Amino acid sequence: MKISVMGGGYVGLVSSACFAELGHSVSLIEIDEKKVEAINSGKPPIYEKGLEELLRKHAGRNLKASSSYDEVCNTEISFICVGTPSGPEGEADLSMIEAASRSVGESLQEGDGYHVVAVKSTVPPGTTQDLVMPTVLRRSGSVGGERELGFAMNPEFLREGLAVQDFMQPDRIVIGCSDTKAGDLVESIYERLNAPVIRVGLSSAEMIKYASNALLATKISFSNEIGNICKKIGIDVYEVMRGVGMDHRISPHFLNAGAGFGGSCFPKDVMAMIRLAELIGEDPVLLKSVVEVNMKQPIRMVDLLERRLGGLSGKEIAVLGLAFKKDTDDVRESRAIPLIKELKKRGAWVKAYDPLAVSNMRKVFPDVEYFKSAAGALENADACLIMTEWPEFAQLDEEFDLMKSRVIIEGRRVLLCGDAEGLCW
Ligand code: UDX
Repeated sequence: MKISVMGGGYVGLVSSACFAELGHSVSLIEIDEKKVEAINSGKPPIYEKGLEELLRKHAGRNLKASSSYDEVCNTEISFICVGTPSGPEGEADLSMIEAASRSVGESLQEGDGYHVVAVKSTVPPGTTQDLVMPTVLRRSGSVGGERELGFAMNPEFLREGLAVQDFMQPDRIVIGCSDTKAGDLVESIYERLNAPVIRVGLSSAEMIKYASNALLATKISFSNEIGNICKKIGIDVYEVMRGVGMDHRISPHFLNAGAGFGGSCFPKDVMAMIRLAELIGEDPVLLKSVVEVNMKQPIRMVDLLERRLGGLSGKEIAVLGLAFKKDTDDVRESRAIPLIKELKKRGAWVKAYDPLAVSNMRKVFPDVEYFKSAAGALENADACLIMTEWPEFAQLDEEFDLMKSRVIIEGRRVLLCGDAEGLCW
């Protein structure tokens, strides 16, 4: 099938490469010329496991990137994959969705035949129906015109670092559609994937994405709260959650207690859900608590450290791990950010190390001292805080002897050395 994809960011690029791998012919539209050039020469502008192989195989053949919308009218379906960042009040900013809808609509003035516009971006319920549909219809002149248009909402559930795998082996494919014909067309794209498909209304599909992320974030904050309680009574929350997660109704996933959740999705999507609820007169107490627990975890870590050291002013603190999770250089909403802010506020000197994320964190904190190895950051430090579960940290032991004394607090359960204190275990 001929597919166009709007937006060559993380979701658009991974989806395009995977659609090409499924045998489709893909036109990727991205306004950044540098990205277009990189993609067409088979070099992904972001690191994502397995993506480079796919680009090398398909770029210039059945995957072509361009900065113009000209090709959209020659395709059967277009996917909107542009960003929906947080607005000033935490709401989802839909300006890029609207702009993409306008451009798709204008392009669809040309050509004929049936075309489906599908939204893949994470958008609040009602967006496809109330913003994308009318915008595309108006701009294409299709209301009662030549072109027959259908609309769909097909959310992604891609984890950073595992996005290609998540696309090719999904737990489920969610398709919200305006009518059966539109849903059938979207479903046929995924024919070669062996995954259950759920067909729902447009707004339900939008809500499934938000509710999934909100529930996963809730599991994490729940584990953290149980962990905080367990620590006070001297119980190991990891032992507890191993037992809890064996109940098939709960599942063992996303029950790892620690410094909380970061990244480009959970914090933003939970906030957008809260804002959406408030705007319709609801008070989402559970979701607000999920955010509150998440905000408090890094501060609890600094409190614990301060108690151990008896004050932080003038102390040298090694922070190991800056990325919001392992295997990425992404520091967006990383729990290391509020932690470092608090350390600085209390007068500590921060010495940081991360295998991949130093250059991104340098943009956030130019005045932190960065090191090329864990040992470098640990030398002469008064204490060490572990913030990302990088496998290379597991083996650290003798390196801690470089510190003034072995005061080690883990925000992620990763060390094997045995004398670290857990944030909530
Ligand atoms: C997430 C969702 O998993 C994905 O489906 C969605 O589409 C995008 O957002 P991602 O942000 O890449 O993916 O990371 P994920 O692996 O889900 O982790 C998010 C955060 O939660 C990380 O900071 C991680 O450290 C934290 N986390 C995760 C925990 O603190 N405990 C856990 O048990 C699991």
